[in-house]
Amino acid sequence: MRVWRRILKAKIKEIEEKFDSEIRNVSLPEHLEETRVKYLGRKGVLTSLLKQVSALSNDEKPVFGKLLNDLKNNINTKISEKLVDIKSAKKTETKLDITLQGNKPVIGHKHPLTLITQEIKEIFFGLGFETVTGPEIETEYYNFEALNTPADHPARDEHDSFYITSKDLLRTHTSPVQIRVMEKQKPPIRVIAPGRCFRRDATDATHSPIFHQVEGLAIDTNITFGDLKGVLEVFAKQLFGRQTKIRFRPDFFPFTEPSAEYAFSCVNCKGKGCRICKNTGWLEIGGAGMVDPEVFKMMHYDAEKYSGFAFGMGIERIAMIKYHIHDIRMFFENDIRFLRQF
Ligand code: FA5
Repeated sequence: MRVWRRILKAKIKEIEEKFDSEIRNVSLPEHLEETRVKYLGRKGVLTSLLKQVSALSNDEKPVFGKLLNDLKNNINTKISEKLVDIKSAKKTETKLDITLQGNKPVIGHKHPLTLITQEIKEIFFGLGFETVTGPEIETEYYNFEALNTPADHPARDEHDSFYITSKDLLRTHTSPVQIRVMEKQKPPIRVIAPGRCFRRDATDATHSPIFHQVEGLAIDTNITFGDLKGVLEVFAKQLFGRQTKIRFRPDFFPFTEPSAEYAFSCVNCKGKGCRICKNTGWLEIGGAGMVDPEVFKMMHYDAEKYSGFAFGMGIERIAMIKYHIHDIRMFFENDIRFLRQF
């Protein structure tokens, strides 16, 4: 009896191993069916083995009957699993139709305001200016007071603002970054600060409640208005070409003294007068001036020792001139036909 038991057990193991190796190579459902018939069919391997069990004693029969039954269940399970594998492999195969036209990946590109900001940064970098940033939510102190614009100052009216709390607002210009830099570092200072600004201005072709400015600040011993003119002239020529001229006219800002508004000669008509410059020959760019001694006083800078200049300009304004865009709203409408051109 013991010999029988050993032989049958070895036989069952051998069958299972053979089945495993055969099924591994099967890749078609019809071949799988052939394998099933070979092992489980009426004239299959298992049926012939089952016949041999009948020759065993009554004690041995249930033991081997169970072993064979387990083998049969194993084979059935493996066949079902293999069928699922074959079907899913077929599905992925049929999904890939190499004759179909492929989808061209869409490559994004930079927004025109990003492009112009990069160009502005590069020019000032060449002039020794480091780029810094400041928060878009500012306190009244940084946005106005430290810039010599107290609560009752009429200049505050020009910056109709978005307040968040009674003391915090969305910055109306990039000038508060001047203060943040002066607080942190001592002269020599040479920085530009590009960023987003917010004003309660009605939208039209040249105004938007959200816009961008770039601030400039240089402080050292012996900085003069001549340095300011020189820096802005080099900037104008690098951005718009060597023929570009620059014009300064007196203006007022509470944080600079003297103050000026500056304009570049029209890039379109070269100063002769056209539709773009409204026949003036000039394109207004921004405000500038020498840092007011009052600001130095608040920052505990020695106004006898140091002097400096500051300027601000609208980035949209520059981009509109550079790319011949006639309406500021184009920058913010996200019209892909417009954006694709840059
Ligand atoms: C200022 O904001 C000053 N901080 C500039 C300055 C800096 C002066 C340093 C002196 C020293 P102004 O309000 O003029 O200045 O704004 C500067 C530029 O920002 C404008 O010439 C314009 O191009 C742009 N700008 C202002 N408001 C808007 C708006 N609503 N939409 C689009 N651009 C705007």
